[in-house]
Amino acid sequence: MHRFIKILMALLLLFPVSQVLAAESPQEARHELMEGVRDAAKPVGEMLKGERDFNAAVAMESFQTWAEAAAIFGDLFPEGSETGFDTEARATIWTDREGFNAILLAFGEAVDAAITANPQDLEALKTAAGPVFKTCKECHEGYRVEKDD
Ligand code: HEC
Repeated sequence: MHRFIKILMALLLLFPVSQVLAAESPQEARHELMEGVRDAAKPVGEMLKGERDFNAAVAMESFQTWAEAAAIFGDLFPEGSETGFDTEARATIWTDREGFNAILLAFGEAVDAAITANPQDLEALKTAAGPVFKTCKECHEGYRVEKDD
């Protein structure tokens, strides 16, 4: 439990208090965390599609959110949290933790590289964000329950 409280404290630094307080279980906490990751992906995706002007500061803010999520996401899948709360986590996370950890690591590394690249135009953003989105997809394909969306 102590460990989980530490994770909640880390989440509080990242997301609105109301969102984190709603998370009383690892299942809910990781759901909230992934929603934060998605919210951060939105402006970057819109820039890449030309639906929004490039903004280096906004992109960097998204990278920071991803980096912080990458640092704690792996702690939110303890034994006993395989089911419940409509979790979309797939059983493969527990049967193939090594593979899951490897993709999580690749995600964190792609994000760190994007932060280091500090893109200042759309072309550079494409180069930096592309590998990150690739790891989102790879992890969801192997470790997230298939959804229609
Ligand atoms: C290392 C694996 C991994 C990576 C990398 C990853 N995800 Fe996820 N994602 C998951 C898992 C597992 C779930 C299901 C969590 C649950 O329901 O417990 C999920 C759920 C989600 C959800 C649904 C939120 C919810 O629970 O309703 C969204 C949206 C999402 N991810 C977006 C992203 C985006 C965008 C990225 C990349 C920027 C990303 N994810 C990277 C594993 C990953």
